[in-house]
Amino acid sequence: MSKLLIEGGHTLSGVINVSGAKNSVVAIIPASILAENNAIIENVPNISDTNDLIDILKLLGVNCEFSDNILKTDTSNIKNMLIPAELSTKLRASYYFMGALLAKYHHAELYYPGGCNIGARPIDIHLKSFEKMGVKITCLDDKYVLDAKHLTGADIELRFPSVGATINIMLAASKADGVTKIRNAAMEPEIVNVAEFLNSMGAKVVGAGTKEIIITGVDKFTNGSVKIIPDRIEAGTYLLAGSLIGKNLTVNNLNPKHLEALISKLQASGVIMDIEDNKITVTSSKKILPINVKTLVYPGFVTDLGQPMQVFLARCNGTSLFEETIYENRMQHIKYLQKMGAKIELNNNIALIKGPCHLHGANVTATDLRAGATLVLAALIAKGITKIDGVKHILRGYDSLPIKLQQVGAKITIIE
Ligand code: EPZ
Repeated sequence: MSKLLIEGGHTLSGVINVSGAKNSVVAIIPASILAENNAIIENVPNISDTNDLIDILKLLGVNCEFSDNILKTDTSNIKNMLIPAELSTKLRASYYFMGALLAKYHHAELYYPGGCNIGARPIDIHLKSFEKMGVKITCLDDKYVLDAKHLTGADIELRFPSVGATINIMLAASKADGVTKIRNAAMEPEIVNVAEFLNSMGAKVVGAGTKEIIITGVDKFTNGSVKIIPDRIEAGTYLLAGSLIGKNLTVNNLNPKHLEALISKLQASGVIMDIEDNKITVTSSKKILPINVKTLVYPGFVTDLGQPMQVFLARCNGTSLFEETIYENRMQHIKYLQKMGAKIELNNNIALIKGPCHLHGANVTATDLRAGATLVLAALIAKGITKIDGVKHILRGYDSLPIKLQQVGAKITIIE
């Protein structure tokens, strides 16, 4: 199993280019089956999630061409198929094929989605919403069969603003009979990107990015195209790297509006950033003050940057309080940060982080995608060598991470 080897203490300078957003492309690839024939998707990140979803498209008979971060699909020979466990369990986002196949065929069969083990991650909100649209759902040994004689629009109030459920309902509703209203909808930027793609194919989605989204079902879709938005989580991860050990590190191809919560926390702590339209240049400073961070739904502080943020808090001059409110099991990396010298007292989802601490290299394991990114940040500032196991988790969500960091001065290599 490959490992990352990182020698800490090397200042990061220069330009890191951010790739397209994982959490947008993993919904837009399944949505591409709705195109009349062709879809062109630009700024697609080259990560394992992209390739795993392309494998599912190919299983369904969709012709796919993926090069230079552009994915071209042709659905002329598409056929509805059971999506087998070996494909659907590779990532949670396989569940977007439920909404897309329901819209196209009123029928979907797939095994339960996979994804990071950061909590139970049920899909009850998705399924209850589909049932309101007339879908009959049976689940047998982790295989879901969704069937709708008539797929009809519905008025759906989400008990929690679930990102995945908001998108899945949008997909199914795009070709349902009548109007669907999603209330208490999630407002993440990736949802706006998916709606933009659906509308490029003739869908009628209004209000994406707000708490209320209205989708009027249409009979036919045209061909479509979309550019994937910059990955705000990747961008935030590199901004944190620059805040820890950067000297004029420029994180390029980002949208500062999507990072407001992180930016304001870093500025409150004393980090100086030069913020431009699509890039931010940051230099680390020794005089960073402790701050309290609580993860929330968008536009609050995003849970996916909560783990990496803890490395920054460990460097602050004082004690910071961190609380994770979205997932119940997103603290598995803490024991490894403690092994590297971090002073963290953990009580369920609340961490008391005493800084400034001086980390040292160790052998650690990435338990999930963002835990892996967290350990990379810790290794970049630790004294000595850190070996990180479980690299596959990291490469799921960070396009070319080792090369991007090497290019700005990090001493990082992948070893088998
Ligand atoms: C998306 O997951 C992202 N993944 C996650 O990023 C991100 O952390 C999350 O949104 C929140 O922003 C993708 O987009 C592929 P949710 P999703 O539905 O859609 C509970 C990463 O690191 N819930 O908003 O699964 C759920 O258990 C990943 O890139 C239900 O209880 O998130 C969780 O506690 C990790 N029932 C909370 O809601 C449901 O039916 C948020 O889930 C659905 C969700």
